[in-house]
Amino acid sequence: MEDRTAVSASAPGKIILFGEHAVVYGRPAIAAPLTHVRATATIHPARDGGVILAAPDLGVRQNLANVGTEDALALTVQQVLIAAGLQRLPDMTITVTSDIPIAAGLGSGAAITAATTRALAQFLELDIPVTDGWISDLTYEVEKIHHGTPSGIDNTVVAYERPVYFVRQTPQNLIETFSVQQPLHLLVGDTGISSSTKDVVGDVRRSWQKDPQRFNALFDGCGALSEAAREAIQTGDYEEIGRMMNQNHALLVDMTVSSPDLDRLVSTALDAGALGAKMSGGGRGGNMIALV
Ligand code: MEV
Repeated sequence: MEDRTAVSASAPGKIILFGEHAVVYGRPAIAAPLTHVRATATIHPARDGGVILAAPDLGVRQNLANVGTEDALALTVQQVLIAAGLQRLPDMTITVTSDIPIAAGLGSGAAITAATTRALAQFLELDIPVTDGWISDLTYEVEKIHHGTPSGIDNTVVAYERPVYFVRQTPQNLIETFSVQQPLHLLVGDTGISSSTKDVVGDVRRSWQKDPQRFNALFDGCGALSEAAREAIQTGDYEEIGRMMNQNHALLVDMTVSSPDLDRLVSTALDAGALGAKMSGGGRGGNMIALV
């Protein structure tokens, strides 16, 4: 056994404050980390047995040698191996746990990948600069399994762990982390309904292909809100942020990515005095956020 010690790394969940879906089509969006729910990866050295991938919460324990790269955790490990230019990995057990609800639009998949990538980089004592950007880029590749055509915002916010203003563009995405003038108190309301971001993103793509004019206008509306909201967040204008959250929710309803449960949570929050509320993430289930 090589002389390595156990390591552990974690990554937060995330919420999309403004611009989900439109961000896939190059419009700006704003996301923030949800730091008190986290995914954690712990790596213990082993004497033999190869690389064991364990997700005890899901009852999964398998050997990397028997898993294809359609598995997110296996792909995560393979990518680090390639990026680090290593031929083989030392024997180890990688255990991932998470208290981020799965398939709820809170970035659980991205957080597990980012935490595992960080832990592996530490465990292997990689000889390359392990920046947040590097973690984000590797996480993006794995996000394709979860999302099909991810914009890149989820991996960015969980890797940088800061509020981020994001525009998907070539040759390089625009990523601006920014400060928040006064803390935003956000309430996250879970519909308890799990939803596949990949499916919803695919549906939006089909609708956009059928009626590009209408959907481009909806995306433009979301993008304009993200731009204006960034100003309001920086100056701490709560009333304005709340109003814009309501407008963003209305656009997402028009995009057909909300659901009766999400709409009910939004109106309950507003009736109770929230300054604004909207669904957050892929939609058709998952979570609502309210500015309280
Ligand atoms: C998911 O958190 C946000 C979406 O805009 C998809 C993406 O940006 O990849 C729905």
